[in-house]
Amino acid sequence: DAHRPLHGRHVLITAGPTREPIDPVRYIANRSSGRQGFAIAAAAAEAGADVTLVAGPVHLPTPAGVMRVDVETAREMEAAVHAALPADIAIMVAAVADWRAAENADQKIKKKGDAPPPLKLAENPDILAGLANHKARPGLLIGFAAETENIAEHARAKLARKGCDWIVANDVSGDVMGGDENSVHIITAEGSEIWERLPKPEVARRLVEKISTTITEEN
Ligand code: C5P
Repeated sequence: DAHRPLHGRHVLITAGPTREPIDPVRYIANRSSGRQGFAIAAAAAEAGADVTLVAGPVHLPTPAGVMRVDVETAREMEAAVHAALPADIAIMVAAVADWRAAENADQKIKKKGDAPPPLKLAENPDILAGLANHKARPGLLIGFAAETENIAEHARAKLARKGCDWIVANDVSGDVMGGDENSVHIITAEGSEIWERLPKPEVARRLVEKISTTITEEN
């Protein structure tokens, strides 16, 4: 019905940062709050979808009606995403760490001598690009991009590189990361839209509305 346009659809969402351990007490992470991804999960559930939200370490309550899977590392996030397939729609909002420590020490690394210990990094899997090539690729695959300049141009390049259907590009040149509002461009094969600066829940509602319209037109 009109109020539940995503009824019967499985929507898979990643949100938040990932946390990559160096030793039992230290880690590599980033400033993602998870707020935009959680708002999208809430909006999709309100639109009637079955929502799986794979969340990195964040301080946010689970939105009503959402099935939440908590993870820490990029590799755990990837495994949880694959375990949640199939999905009709996937929205990869998480700020996944590009690198992890090549070795995760069993014991706390001790200060010794004068030189700091070397930190070797290893590349993390690209969860979004992996989904684009997966045999169970979701019919609508949406990525996010945090940009500080040439937003549309960088986002369109990312759309091609990642093999997804849409890129939601954030202008993070201001205080967007961790903030209340978001300023986004929506880049698709058909064209692009620039949305005015809006509260994150409103960006989420509009994005879900656009998804609902697209899904309905295709079926
Ligand atoms: O390459 P970049 O990190 O800018 O791409 C951002 C998009 O790719 C986001 O949708 C993010 O969730 C996704 N991503 C991912 N796995 C990674 C890196 C990014 O799913 N390892």
